[in-house]
Amino acid sequence: MSGSKIARDLLAHYDVHARRLPWRAPPGANAADPYHVWLSEVMLQQTTVAAVGPYFEKFTLRWPTVLDLAASADADLMAAWAGLGYYARARNLLACARAVVADYGGRFPDTEDALRALPGLGAYTAAAVAAIAFGRRAVVVDANVERVVARLFAIATPLPAARPDIRAAADSITPDLRAGDFAQAMMDLGATICTARNPACGICPLRQDCAAVRTADPAAFPVKAPK
Ligand code: ADE
Repeated sequence: MSGSKIARDLLAHYDVHARRLPWRAPPGANAADPYHVWLSEVMLQQTTVAAVGPYFEKFTLRWPTVLDLAASADADLMAAWAGLGYYARARNLLACARAVVADYGGRFPDTEDALRALPGLGAYTAAAVAAIAFGRRAVVVDANVERVVARLFAIATPLPAARPDIRAAADSITPDLRAGDFAQAMMDLGATICTARNPACGICPLRQDCAAVRTADPAAFPVKAPK
């Protein structure tokens, strides 16, 4: 099984419309550098794509590999991180870089389980790096993907109780091949078309596959629990 109709439709759209983000491999190139994928995913936790761009460029110029980053002084890394906020992420970043060097000779492990065991790498980041950097089939669910999936399947259970259903639905549409592109295509869709407010259903590549678009108010998904 190489994927659902949803995956086929979405990947066809992604091949034409993927955002050219600095940490992504250029179209046609081999898989993205795991160090770049990991660094960008950590930076993108709680920080927007637009804000992360210049920091990602600065970090990869100054520390071109995870070996360079692992060898940096704590204070240098914290100073370079200034402005991104959530400083625990920066401390975890350094701990993780040092573990990749100490335990793996500077090459990121290529399975979700081994990645998950590294310092500061949560379930989301482990799945994202496994899929995007290593082409592993992993189910990558962030807030954007959660919204897209809740709409595709018109999941009526309110958040947060809906999370297991959303995850199972995401699993059911994740293709065996190109799981990393699929994850990033879902993120792009959530960021640009399937937005929280005023989704652009008229230009959505998944319009034909979407249960929410056939309801009175697609933007009502995911359903929030009453306060
Ligand atoms: N947000 C988190 N990770 C992302 C990625 N790889 N591409 C786009 N947006 C993201």
